[in-house]
Formats: sequence, structure tokens, C-alpha cells
Amino acid sequence: MNETAARTRVIVLYESMFGATRHVAETIAGRLRPVADVTIMNSVDAGPADLAQADVIVAGGPTHAFGLSSETTRAEAKKVAERSDGVLVFDCPDVTRGLRELLRALPRASRQQSFASFSTRSGKAPRLFTGSAARRIDREMRAMGYLPLLPPRDFLIDSTHRLIDGQLTDAADWGAHLAGQLDLHQESRLGER
Ligand SMILES: Cc1cc2nc3c(=O)[nH]c(=O)nc-3n(C[C@H](O)[C@H](O)[C@H](O)COP(=O)(O)O)c2cc1C
Repeated sequence: MNETAARTRVIVLYESMFGATRHVAETIAGRLRPVADVTIMNSVDAGPADLAQADVIVAGGPTHAFGLSSETTRAEAKKVAERSDGVLVFDCPDVTRGLRELLRALPRASRQQSFASFSTRSGKAPRLFTGSAARRIDREMRAMGYLPLLPPRDFLIDSTHRLIDGQLTDAADWGAHLAGQLDLHQESRLGER
């Protein structure tokens, strides 16, 4: 990487009800920090201006009802936590806002802006039967002119909504792979100057 170049600005956005997707997001952000200026945010706290400033948007959420969560499914997740006798801690600050609502306000890519998407989903069945929030994010971001750095990626949870053993290692590997793509992204941005 050219040391004199401005570092790539990355925003890692996540949504998470019980912490699984947040853990994945933190792991990925940790792998990106050596090569980029990384901000990690819960999608509840992010707005269109945060997205407009980023060269690369890395976005991930839990798969709900085969796709992105909604106010209804977040409220359902809250009930799941309430019924879990304290096993699951509901950690969603505002059920009315999440990635779905943020993506609805996504500005069109104004320059060469790239993205990568991830999600957590049930590991019990292939993606065809579980759906994937990552694929929905991928579709919406492409439609707004953002360039995919990697194919959408799912990380798997068990029936208790916890990440299956080894998934955080896979998230770290995916983050390292993405870091390699960021280096290429930076080279191509420099080529544009
Ligand atoms: C209301 C609700 C709907 C869900 N729907 C699906 C689904 O369609 N497919 C799936 O694979 N997992 C589904 N799940 C499991 C979630 O993907 C899982 O809770 C999530 O990955 C945990 O991540 P989090 O702790 O970051 O929220 C659902 C969970 C809830 C609470």
C-alpha cells in the first residue's frame, strides 16, 4: 500500500438483536483496522451522511423472515428474549429503525464507493431454505450504484441464536480477505487521481 495515500474510510454497520451479528461485525472491523480508517456503528445510530462519507460500506444484519428485519420481526425478537429467562439479552435500542430503514434512505453512490455485506442466519439448512439478510443488502446496494468487493456472506447460528463454534474464526478470515480487497480498492482510487 502507498503510505502517502489517504487511507480508505470504511464504515462497518451492523444490526443485532442478541449480539451475534455485533460480534461478527466487531471481528471483521478488527481485521480491517490495519489497512483502513474504520468506524463501526449500530445502524440505529447511522444516517445517510455517515454513508456518504465512507469509501467502503460493510453492512450486516440478522436474517429475519428470510431477509432483513422489520419493526414487526424486531418486536418478535424482543419477545423471544423475554421468553428466554435471561438467556438472551435483547440489545436493539430502537425496534422502529434498522438496516432496512437505513438502506431505504441510502444515497446513490456519488463516486467510486464500494461495499460488502454479511448476515447471520440459521445453520440448520442451506440458504435456499433460511433466506439471507446479506443477499438483500447486496441487492439494494448494487441497485444504488455501489460496487461489491466480495459476494454476500452468511455466518451461522444454532437454534439458541448463538454463533456456531468456528464462525468467529471464519468472520476473521473473511475480514482479512476483505482487507486485501481494500488494498486493491485504494490502488484503483489512486489511479483515478
Ligand atoms: C423474528 C425472527 C425471525 C427469524 N427469521 C429467520 C429466518 O427467516 N431465517 C434464518 O435463518 N434465521 C432466522 N432467525 C434467526 C436469526 O437469524 C438469529 O436470531 C440471528 O442470526 C441472531 O443474530 P443477532 O443476535 O445479531 O440478532 C429469526 C429470528 C427471529 C427473532
